[in-house]
Amino acid sequence: MTRKITANLYMTIDGRGEFPKYPGSDLPSGDPNEPDEFFRRMWTDRYSDVTTVVMGRRSFVGHRRVHSLKGRKPSDPKFMFDYSRFLDKVEKVCLSHRLKALDWENSRVMKGDLAKVIAKLKAEKGGNIILEGGPRLIQEVIRRNLADDYWFLIMPVVYGRGPRYWGAMTAQTNLKLLSATSMRYGEVVLHYEAVREKSPSKRK
Ligand SMILES: NC(=O)c1ccc[n+]([C@@H]2O[C@H](COP(=O)([O-])OP(=O)(O)OC[C@H]3O[C@@H](n4cnc5c(N)ncnc54)[C@H](OP(=O)(O)O)[C@@H]3O)[C@@H](O)[C@H]2O)c1
Repeated sequence: MTRKITANLYMTIDGRGEFPKYPGSDLPSGDPNEPDEFFRRMWTDRYSDVTTVVMGRRSFVGHRRVHSLKGRKPSDPKFMFDYSRFLDKVEKVCLSHRLKALDWENSRVMKGDLAKVIAKLKAEKGGNIILEGGPRLIQEVIRRNLADDYWFLIMPVVYGRGPRYWGAMTAQTNLKLLSATSMRYGEVVLHYEAVREKSPSKRK
């Protein structure tokens, strides 16, 4: 079975990779022990088919600090503990030229041309793969059309600061919309599938 590559994007309307406060953002959506629909579809529903999560060095370090089981606060909701157990268990790939000690179980470093890294992972045994950021890494994924599908969480804020998802794109990329959902506090969740080109190797 081919390993599906999914890219996750969490952005403000102006394409910044931050998590700002806005009305409702810090309120539990319904039952605080249950994930909202976005989290469920992007993560909880996929715990059984995803075996690898890829992160740029800065995101890896941030996730290790906040989302490893060691980093969880007792007041965190139960589904975030489940997320941490999943992240601890799954294979984590940290992209980095400089990091040597990862200090998180089931982790390894990879480096080099992103298309080659992804091709190498696809050739290995395993389940599906999530590309979890950060924004700079995902920008390259989109520019080079390297994922099979994309989940966007768009927050109802024009933020004006923070890392940018959108930068110089060298070619037009068409995506096929699979679903569009608006959420309780004004977020929009978009799920797109990649449209494959005849000569993707021309993209740099
Ligand atoms: N899902 C998320 O993770 C997420 C979502 C939204 C916002 N954010 C925020 O975004 C910020 C981090 O995002 P970012 O875009 O600045 O950084 P990032 O993508 O997490 O990390 C960038 C680093 O990854 C390494 N890297 C990337 N591609 C590589 C490759 N092909 N080979 C080797 N190393 C590679 C490099 O590390 P070296 O310098 O070690 O070579 C590079 O400096 C954080 O502030 C975070 O809070 C993260």
